[in-house]
Amino acid sequence: MGREKIIIIDYGSQFTQLIARKVRELGVYSEIINFSKTQKLRKDKLLKGIILSGGPLTATNKKTPKLNSEILNLKIPILGICYGHQILSKKLGGKIKTSKKREFGRAYIKSFTKSPITKKFFGTKKNSVWMSHQDVVSVIPKGFKKIASSPNSKFAIIANENKKYYGIQFHPEVTHTTNGKILIKNFLFDICKMRKSWNPKNQAKLLITKMKKEIKNEKVICALSGGVDSSVVALLLKKAINKNLVCVFVNTGLLRKNEANEIIRTFKKKFRIKFIYINASKLFLKKLRGVTNPENKRKVIGKLFIQLFEKYSKKIKKVKFLAQGTLYPDIIESKTVTGSPSSKIKSHHNVGGLPKKMKFKLIEPLKELFKDEVRKLGLELSLSKKILYRHPFPGPGLAIRIPGEVTKQKVEILQEADFIFMNELKESNYYNKIWQAYAALLPMKTVGVMGDSRTYEYTCLLRAVTSVDGMTADFFNFDKTFLQKISNKIVNSVKGVNRVVYDITSKPPSTIELE
Ligand code: XMP
Repeated sequence: MGREKIIIIDYGSQFTQLIARKVRELGVYSEIINFSKTQKLRKDKLLKGIILSGGPLTATNKKTPKLNSEILNLKIPILGICYGHQILSKKLGGKIKTSKKREFGRAYIKSFTKSPITKKFFGTKKNSVWMSHQDVVSVIPKGFKKIASSPNSKFAIIANENKKYYGIQFHPEVTHTTNGKILIKNFLFDICKMRKSWNPKNQAKLLITKMKKEIKNEKVICALSGGVDSSVVALLLKKAINKNLVCVFVNTGLLRKNEANEIIRTFKKKFRIKFIYINASKLFLKKLRGVTNPENKRKVIGKLFIQLFEKYSKKIKKVKFLAQGTLYPDIIESKTVTGSPSSKIKSHHNVGGLPKKMKFKLIEPLKELFKDEVRKLGLELSLSKKILYRHPFPGPGLAIRIPGEVTKQKVEILQEADFIFMNELKESNYYNKIWQAYAALLPMKTVGVMGDSRTYEYTCLLRAVTSVDGMTADFFNFDKTFLQKISNKIVNSVKGVNRVVYDITSKPPSTIELE
């Protein structure tokens, strides 16, 4: 027996993966297909509904993607979001126009009439939603009715209840839309009549089956960092291709204090996976000498990782694949969403930082998932709580927490400061309330006074954020006395630091890491 599914048609929205994520969270299996592949859609008893994503283009242009007739021929419920709402309306005889006023960010929509799609959605007849458009549906197709509107979108929600076609101008998939998940839930369960059949156990099974099919009898090296993402990848691979898997752990010398030993212990003893340990601390520092530009740093590190993997894979022979724990936010921030170079945020080492030419084929089973989903998968694979709930740590390590040139002395200072911060977070029960925390070493020295003497030393920056998926984040609101205690401890015990500051910016406008 197969599994019921929803198909999400991607028209290029930044939020398409968030739709898929919300659908998964609700216990339903979904597949994303590109709009150009919709001709291949066939009637299938298990296909219960279609969601049309938003997109960056204008639906008023003749050349931009339209709704393919094949989709209507399936005669199943359709939910169009933003661009999807506009092309659905246009296809069925409605009109769209480019509005004089743009509607970006928060807007309030008012309910006009009841519909199964808005069951339990409106708190008080008015809801706060997230808009991101300039085009609007100006005339709705025959058979549709207006369910809700906003000041700039007369048809913020429309419905044809007979055909089970729904159009929504705003984005129910982003957390800023109050009760957005309820709309998607109504679509899946009340309109498409689906049952919950998707959970981390199925997800693990599916990923294992896919990897087996792709890898066949070839050999794989898995880049292990000791964090939750690469550990989950290693455990999935162990189940998929056990004997052909070798995990490689590179000590870049840019890890946190004592981290390398802990990782070796865990993986050698607990997981019983074939394991290669490469201590390349000196090499990384040598290659980073004189490098100050953040993107160059990332590229130097990414390149060196691959060179080491290539060198050591020769010892194993015939390694075709390199597996790594890339997540969806790593990809979206590493590529240019609009095509313009300026929209690339940074080259995360496990994606953009990799050299263009390399011998391996990449295996990235988690590349469509978010951190919290990977943690649920890890729980399913019996990963220890210590690894599961460890704060994320970036591939380029402390190098991107030391703006400017990275030196051995700076790394050692930072390791000590970070160690104090982490221990205090754990002892004060803050650690698990925070999504990610770290210490950084700023490239400036300032004057201080200690024991009647002048000091001229570095500034340590502390950062702690709350987040759901790393895409957006808020700074954590510590008790003042806690910050004071950390500041005292760091300045008193870490030689080289005479000032501690706390970062109170959110993401956006900042990012979580400094570089
Ligand atoms: P930013 O700084 O982009 O970070 O707001 C978002 C999340 O991604 C982590 N990060 C990385 N992880 N390789 C990784 O594996 C990288 O190159 C990388 N850069 C940032 C960061 O620690 C945060 O959790």
